[in-house]
Amino acid sequence: GRVVVVYGGASAEREVSLISGSAILASLKRSGVDAIGYDLAESGLPGLQALAPDRVFIALHGGVGEDGTLQGALSLLEIPFTGSGVLASALGMDKQRTKAVWHNAGLPTPESLTLNAASDWQSVCETLGLPLIVKPVHEGSTIGISIVESPEALEAAYRDASRFDAAVMAERFVQGPEYTVSLLGDSVLPAIRVEVPSGFYDYEAKYLSNETLYHLPCGLSSEDEAALGDLSRRAFEAIGAKGWGRVDMMRDADGQFWLLEVNTVPGMTDHSLVPQAAAHAGVGFDALVLRILESSLN
Ligand code: DAL
Ligand code: MG
Repeated sequence: GRVVVVYGGASAEREVSLISGSAILASLKRSGVDAIGYDLAESGLPGLQALAPDRVFIALHGGVGEDGTLQGALSLLEIPFTGSGVLASALGMDKQRTKAVWHNAGLPTPESLTLNAASDWQSVCETLGLPLIVKPVHEGSTIGISIVESPEALEAAYRDASRFDAAVMAERFVQGPEYTVSLLGDSVLPAIRVEVPSGFYDYEAKYLSNETLYHLPCGLSSEDEAALGDLSRRAFEAIGAKGWGRVDMMRDADGQFWLLEVNTVPGMTDHSLVPQAAAHAGVGFDALVLRILESSLN
């Protein structure tokens, strides 16, 4: 049957999604799959339905494609789709509620507070310590995120983040390298340690810079890497995610890992982490795409 790769859309991560979706579409075609691409921003759900998909490969980042909305619509239409269902998608798109679930499950995640225009900036800084990190609750690709060094800078960071999202959070900053673990079906792919010479893994470092270093193998002992994989699997399952995804963490100076977020539709650009981890495990891009497609049937 026909596979429709849905990409683009209207979220702040539209550009990233167009690149992920084009790569996925080209790959499916190389594998001989009857596939076409569809930009959800063009004619929305009716336009997608008109293509009569047998399956949908979701390649949307942020907004309605990653937050459970499209997953709910496709469930009602009885069209199978890749990746997580309604609940895990919605939770994964909400960094703060994801953290609440992890906290409840006894999984380590840095303390955080919700911000609003009337927040007491001084007391937020006292509670979380400085520096701290300010994030829109529902964005991806580091959009609207800042590291804050003073109570004065906190208010400006809040205003900046609130341009992207009505919900803004402050989180204790974990000083240390970032690690990311990709999950593919029942497999945990090799962890990647991300090193950014400028110090912050932001949008520029993620997609534009050629200076970001991806350490693969990540340099952990095999015991530590197994523990990290296990933590990632538990974090993924705690929110009910399935199919594929990526769990992002920081490791502090004491060697403790702290969970930051789950991406239920991770990037698939040539700078992206899941394809790199898969390649290291001997799964090339085309095989990876086919394995993600299989998740639509489970
Ligand atoms: N949100 C971006 C696409 C990622 O997690 O890879
Ligand atoms: Mg994300």
